[in-house]
Amino acid sequence: MTGAALLFTAPAAHAADTPLRDLAAAKGKLIGTAVTGSKLTGTYGDIAGAQFSSLTPGNAMKWGTVEPTRGSFDWTEADQIVAFAQAHHQQVRGHTLVWYSQNPSWLTNGSWTSAQLGSLLQNHISTEVGRYKGRIAAWDVVNEPFNDDGSYRSTLWYKGLGSGYIASALTWAHAADPNARLYINDYNAEGVNAKSDALYNLVKSLKARGVPIGGVGLQAHLILGQVPSTLRQNIQRFAGLGVDVAITELDVRMQLPADRTKLAQQKADFASVVAACTAVARCVNVTVWGFTDADSWVPGTFPGYGAATPYDENYRPKPAYYGIAQALG
Ligand code: XIL
Repeated sequence: MTGAALLFTAPAAHAADTPLRDLAAAKGKLIGTAVTGSKLTGTYGDIAGAQFSSLTPGNAMKWGTVEPTRGSFDWTEADQIVAFAQAHHQQVRGHTLVWYSQNPSWLTNGSWTSAQLGSLLQNHISTEVGRYKGRIAAWDVVNEPFNDDGSYRSTLWYKGLGSGYIASALTWAHAADPNARLYINDYNAEGVNAKSDALYNLVKSLKARGVPIGGVGLQAHLILGQVPSTLRQNIQRFAGLGVDVAITELDVRMQLPADRTKLAQQKADFASVVAACTAVARCVNVTVWGFTDADSWVPGTFPGYGAATPYDENYRPKPAYYGIAQALG
């Protein structure tokens, strides 16, 4: 075989390789994946358990999942993921408590006074964080609060409660589990830009006011070849505020069909994101948003795009997998 053929041929198995979680641990980092609870058996479960040290429920902890009808809760999938994580000595990143999307219709269709909305949110946070107290290392408390221009996104929370909903949510979550590290998480904030400036200024002001903000999540839903050149600098400036940073939802989508050139670029992109995190002590976790192309939100959300994760649809590691491994050590 030629060198090029060797480079691009995925081995049938990778049992001899050091698992990503061990490589990450040697660097003092966590490597995570979003998961779907019902799939955590067979090959999917084997890989999730063996390769990753952190799990994020892809949908299982969202408000619309856990309380589809007011007052009637369904924790089945969330419990399953937390139990799997405990059995495999993995951390859990709870995701997410306050968001504009995937809320139950009883909530979004209701008309609430500001006081009612505040108490609904406080109850939601206390109930969910309290249920998993001591079992969730980090919570994405607030998800996607900003527009790309750095203004506050006009959500039901912002409209009903003003920008103070963010500090309130963090304070309520802290009361329910004082040991969980509390994050604000957003996308398109990976590089230095108007949105990450707004996030930076918010975190700085929360810290100054003594609000329990523990971390910043950079989602990193990236397009092939477009890792921001200022990613490391941006991670560094958040770390300088005294908070942790996590890459929370990494995927690198490409226009289908995939080919060798694209997969090689994707390998470089995954490696450069992981390297930006390993370069900064307070960057604690890199989580991929699904580890296999069989379980990725990309094809359904970005028509014509896909192949965004480190494993193909048949659970074979792609070049991107080796990009992560190389950047970890
Ligand atoms: C996505 C899930 O992966 C999909 O299954 C679901 O249909 C929509 O939400 N940012 C986030 C995640 O914070 O919660 C989103 O997850 C992807 C974008």
